[in-house]
Amino acid sequence: MRPNKADPHRAGLAGAVALLAALSGAPVAHAETVTRLTFSQAGTVLEVTAPAAGIMRVRLGRGKLPEDASWAVPAATRSVHLPLEVNRSGDIVHLSAPNISARINRRTLRAEILDASGKPLLTDLAGSHEAGFRLRGKLAGADHIFGLGDKTGTFDRKGGAYTMWNSDTYKFTQATDPLYKTIPFFMAVGDRGRAYGVFLDNTWRSTFDFGKTERDVLAISCEGGPIDYYVMSGPAPKDVLQQYAHLTGKPPLMPQWSLGFQQSKWSYKTDAEVRAIAQRLRSERLPADVVYMDIDYQDRARPFTVNRNTFPDVRKLASDLRGQGLRLVLITDPHIANAPGQDYAAYDSGAAQDMFLKLPNGQHYSGDVWPGAAVFPDFSRAPVRRWWGDLYTGFLADGVAGFWNDMNEPSIFNVASKTMPLDVVHRIDSDDFTARRTTHAEMHNVYGQLNSRATYEGLTRLQPDVRPFVLTRATYAGGQRYAATWTGDNASSWQHLKMGIHQLLNLGMSGFSMAGNDVGGYAGEPPSPELLTRWIQVGAFTPLFRAHSETNRPDQEPWIGDAAHVDIRRRAISERYRLMPYLYAAAEENSRTGIPMMRPVFLNFPQVLANGDRLGGSEDQFMLGGDLLVAPSPTMESPGAYKVELPGKGWYNYWTGQRLAGKDEMVTPDSATLPVYVRPGAIIPKQPLVQSTAITPEGRLELHIYPGPNCQGEIYADDGASLAYQRGAYLRQRIRCEETPNGMKVIFEQRQGEWKPWWTGLAIHVHGWAGARSELAPDMSGGVLSISVKE
Ligand code: GLC
Repeated sequence: MRPNKADPHRAGLAGAVALLAALSGAPVAHAETVTRLTFSQAGTVLEVTAPAAGIMRVRLGRGKLPEDASWAVPAATRSVHLPLEVNRSGDIVHLSAPNISARINRRTLRAEILDASGKPLLTDLAGSHEAGFRLRGKLAGADHIFGLGDKTGTFDRKGGAYTMWNSDTYKFTQATDPLYKTIPFFMAVGDRGRAYGVFLDNTWRSTFDFGKTERDVLAISCEGGPIDYYVMSGPAPKDVLQQYAHLTGKPPLMPQWSLGFQQSKWSYKTDAEVRAIAQRLRSERLPADVVYMDIDYQDRARPFTVNRNTFPDVRKLASDLRGQGLRLVLITDPHIANAPGQDYAAYDSGAAQDMFLKLPNGQHYSGDVWPGAAVFPDFSRAPVRRWWGDLYTGFLADGVAGFWNDMNEPSIFNVASKTMPLDVVHRIDSDDFTARRTTHAEMHNVYGQLNSRATYEGLTRLQPDVRPFVLTRATYAGGQRYAATWTGDNASSWQHLKMGIHQLLNLGMSGFSMAGNDVGGYAGEPPSPELLTRWIQVGAFTPLFRAHSETNRPDQEPWIGDAAHVDIRRRAISERYRLMPYLYAAAEENSRTGIPMMRPVFLNFPQVLANGDRLGGSEDQFMLGGDLLVAPSPTMESPGAYKVELPGKGWYNYWTGQRLAGKDEMVTPDSATLPVYVRPGAIIPKQPLVQSTAITPEGRLELHIYPGPNCQGEIYADDGASLAYQRGAYLRQRIRCEETPNGMKVIFEQRQGEWKPWWTGLAIHVHGWAGARSELAPDMSGGVLSISVKE
């Protein structure tokens, strides 16, 4: 930003000039600096602002601009308007903001968005209002498209078309669309990873066509709502994700226990059954942190009730499980049983306070779900969200640790649309929206996000110093501020295991890092022991590691099958617990930067995309954090030898510590080991094995050093549960290494924060060198350690 551009008086004056220009359709005479520019032509109004460096926002309306309000982008972010430098030449108005610019034809209102170097990103952009609206533009330099949340289809969305309409899609397939979530954000990636992003902030039913109908043309059609979109100029894929996180928010740092292994099933039906599961996890020495209770713990499937015959004392159950290092997560669906006069508190208090959605005739809308006839909170109203949040008071007092918001598309049984009628009335009363009535057509896609927001905000209010854990199935852009998510009702098949990886990668590139698939598969034929083993091995390297399966199916817990399988699964889960310091640092990085924990290879190594259409191994492999590359077989069901494409030379085998001679590796699958590789130059922190994150490890923190260029790693620690880290009770430390003629120097940068870690010292392992490899050292809050290990 140049100093004179920040002058508010100038900007204000120029803004007035621009407004005049807009009203008269006449150009501003000379270069000016404004904070927003509005064009008006033949009844269409277009406005451009720059809410941050590298981001432009375009709004387009008929007669007037659409309402400036959003469920995804907070008001504080939208209200920042960086100065725009305006230059005119004939009909073309060129607007420059830091790192991004736009060229608008003031007669046709066609727009072109350019990056910092003046290279076009989106060209020939035009919006038209017909049956809702259409937005069309050319995608420049977009070899690949990623994002759009949980959608299956193809990993790379280029050439495809996708619909946004939150849907309960039991046993979905690669061809199912729409799915559970609406994240109308995508990132276009071209040569050497040159990237930009587009976010349409609109909750109505929409379709995104990425060159399917017309080559290289982006066509968005939408049934209603505002034309309100943001273009992010990158230039690297990571920059785009950070720009998107700037707009829609970063996820909160979740409790550390949510990174542990989570065991679920629909349903563990009695107190005794939950205890038996807990006991078995411990006796099998399968590390775990969470047991879930699905709908059958409730009285007649009514949310916020407990069946006291089968669960006589939830508080005692929660506390006994806590004694074993396990926490309880309970499902709480949004459908409140339509049960007047039956002493059902959630219904009675909601009805008394007018919290439920109504039909145009003023009666409650009632639809069938698990409890039978049910009514639905109008989460578009802040008072309703508050009322909903308070419903958690009892469960929190019982010591329940987290909550699962399911069926919130919302899903309705016995109707063809699988959801509520579109004319159900919502009464928006929230944020900076104008208080107004609207229909479900506008609110459908954001219902799940607002449900999880109500839960998250309620938990935060009720326990201000405890980090909430909320799991949601449906959501909208920005929902990452409130909840983790999973990919819904997948099936136990090899194809789902593979497809699930793509879903998680695209979710990570859509703001949702804390995401998982039902490990082992939810529906269909039960998994073979082999499939379950493979799934646990892969799941152990995904952010949310939750095993879950449908009712009326054989057991699917990790102890199913013969001892050899159980052994492999135990090793996979245990390895995740040993990696907890690394995982937790990646989660903390995500909450600070928006960079997902699980990422495609090109996010860290954009150069792998140098060869046009190829994805450089990004399709079959993935990274966890910046240093681990996980490479399952591309055909896990019939494993033959396969090639692992590494992003450079000198990578290490994670399991043996051996350095690879070349760039790529031929792997012959062996069912006991999932191939994982380590970046040369990585320093990976690990800890002694514990059976739960509730157990403080004893002894030393291990630092695994893999010599190579850019040698560095980070440790991050805090209490794992409270917000004390925001008040300084954390430890962050960068560690670097430098090779010397007879060994290496390990440089411990000065520690930040005041958290005193659990370890009593360090165990340093240098991999890939012959000779001595391990060295014990005292804890180092700073300073340099010299290690002589070379022969
Ligand atoms: C939905 C969920 C599933 C859950 C079931 C019963 O189908 O997606 O995970 O087990 O409802 O609550």
